[in-house]
Amino acid sequence: MLDKINSIKEEAVRFKAATQEELEEFRLKYLSKKGLLNELFDEFKVVVAEQKREAGQKLNELKNLLAETFERNKESLNSETTSAHDSDLTRPGDSIPIGSRHPISIVRKEICDIFARLGFTIAEGPEIEDDWHVFSALNFPKEHPARDMQDTFFVTKEPDVVLRTHTSSVQVRVMESAKPPIRMIMPGRVFRNEAVSARAHCIFHQVEGLYISENVSFADMKQTLMYFTKELFGEDKEIRLRPSFFPFTEPSAEMDVSCTCSKKGCNLCKGTGWLEIMGCGMVDPNVLDYCGIDSRKYSGYAFGMGIERIAFLKFQIKDIRMYFENDVRFLRQFVV
Ligand code: DAH
Repeated sequence: MLDKINSIKEEAVRFKAATQEELEEFRLKYLSKKGLLNELFDEFKVVVAEQKREAGQKLNELKNLLAETFERNKESLNSETTSAHDSDLTRPGDSIPIGSRHPISIVRKEICDIFARLGFTIAEGPEIEDDWHVFSALNFPKEHPARDMQDTFFVTKEPDVVLRTHTSSVQVRVMESAKPPIRMIMPGRVFRNEAVSARAHCIFHQVEGLYISENVSFADMKQTLMYFTKELFGEDKEIRLRPSFFPFTEPSAEMDVSCTCSKKGCNLCKGTGWLEIMGCGMVDPNVLDYCGIDSRKYSGYAFGMGIERIAFLKFQIKDIRMYFENDVRFLRQFVV
C-alpha cells in the first residue's frame, strides 16, 4: 500500500493540466467516488494494526496533496483564460480622471487675466518679509496696531522679520526696483494672527494692484476698478467707493460691489445691497518718496483684494476653512 501511495504522490507532484479536460480526468482518476484515493481508504481498513499508524498518516498527506494539486491547477487555468482576455489590444483604454483646479487658483487666474487685458503685468515677492517692506515703507506709524504681535506673526524680533500680512509689501519692492510707468498686479499668500473661524483664517490670499505714472487721478482708478468688476461679476454689477483709511494711500476708499439679492433678509450683504471687496486709494506721496519715486512728478493708485472673499461671492462658498481642508467632495465641484 505504501508503494501505491508513493507512486500516486509522484504523479500528483508532476501533474500540470493544460486543459479543462485534463483537469477533469485528474479529478475522476484520483478524487471521485470511485477514484484511487477512495480505493486506498478501502484498503486501509484491512491494514494490519502495526502499519495502521504510518499508512494512515501517509494516506492523509496524499489526500491533501491531491486536493491542493487540483485547486492549484484549477486556478491557473482560470487565470490563463482571464489574462488572455485582458490582453485584447483592441479594447479601448481605461480613462484616467483628471483633477480640478482649486477655487482660489481659478479666481486668482481670472483676476490676473482681466488685469492682463489692461496691460498689467504680474510681480511676486517673498512671504517672509522685513519690517521695512511690510510696514515702514508703507507709512505705518511705529505704534500702529498691525505691528503688534497680536496681529502679525513674527519670525524674529529686532530686527523684525515677519510673515507678510498683506501683498502691499510687494508694491514697495516693485517701486524700489522699477521706474514709472509701473502697471502691475501682485498675487500672493498672506498671514495674520487671527483665530480661525468661518469668515477668518490665519492664511489667505490677496491680489495687490499698482499703477504709477504722471497725472494719474482717482477717476482713472475708479474706471479701472469698474471695468474689472463688470468683467469678473457681470455687466449688471455696480460699484460704490466709500471713504476709508489706510496708512499708505491718501485719499483711501473701500470698494463695494452690488449684491444680487433683493435686499431684505439677504445674509450675504445683510440687507444693505452692497458687498465690500477691496481697499484702494491714491498712493501716499510719502510712500513714493520712501521707495525712491519722485512724488512731485509721479502719482498713482493702488488696490488690494482678498481672493477668498471674491471666491465666496462667485461660488457661494460660506466657510473659509473649506478652502484649506482638501476635501475632495468640495474640490470636485470646481471642474471647469
Ligand atoms: N493692504 C490692505 C489690506 O491688507 C489692502 C489694501 C488697501 C491694499 C488699500 C491697497 C490699498 O493697495 O490701496 O487690508
